[in-house]
Amino acid sequence: MIRETIVTTVDLAGAVHIAPLGLIGEGDGWIIAPFKPSKTLDNLREVPHAVASHVDDVRIFAGCLTGRRDWPVVATGGPVPRLAAALSHWELDVESVVDDEQRPRFRMRCARVAAHAPASGYNRAEAAVIELAILSSRLAMLPREKVRRETEYLAIAVEKTAGPRESEAWNWLMQKVRAFYGGEP
Ligand SMILES: Cc1cc2nc3c(=O)[nH]c(=O)nc-3n(C[C@H](O)[C@H](O)[C@H](O)COP(=O)(O)O)c2cc1C
Repeated sequence: MIRETIVTTVDLAGAVHIAPLGLIGEGDGWIIAPFKPSKTLDNLREVPHAVASHVDDVRIFAGCLTGRRDWPVVATGGPVPRLAAALSHWELDVESVVDDEQRPRFRMRCARVAAHAPASGYNRAEAAVIELAILSSRLAMLPREKVRRETEYLAIAVEKTAGPRESEAWNWLMQKVRAFYGGEP
């Protein structure tokens, strides 16, 4: 089971870093597995805590992948802030680390859970934006034909069910895809 979240971490100077990361469920804990090199990885080594914010504003996923990382954060009372937009968040402490050439695994213990706003059900365009965010982070590794097919399919859910936030997030990511290929995928 993987939960797609927005992870905040801090460095020793207290500077906050925001990155979308999939948290892997393992027993009663969660694994954060950043590919090297990664600022999240460096921060977790400096300050062994993280916050996973659960959001329904998918512009934050799309924004982090398109140079728009400046999302408001608020203090939690712990060492790492959460996103202001979080519907809920988990405060996570590093319990142990398994090092790896490519992708170290940090086993995190959840020290505190807090809820801030009601969740409002599923929206297909939100899911489509998250899928496109992942696709757009792997363009150099994927065949163009696959990207064309999948963006065409995901666009159906966006056309049918998006609100303004989902449309904006979709457009940011499609601009990135078009810039990569010099046109439509
Ligand atoms: C939904 C989603 C899940 C992601 N999960 C991971 C992950 O588990 N590990 C990782 O290294 N990058 C993941 N990425 C890509 C990172 O967000 C991106 O590379 C990020 O900038 C991490 O590097 P940083 O810590 O230097 O910011 C994911 C991206 C998205 C959109």
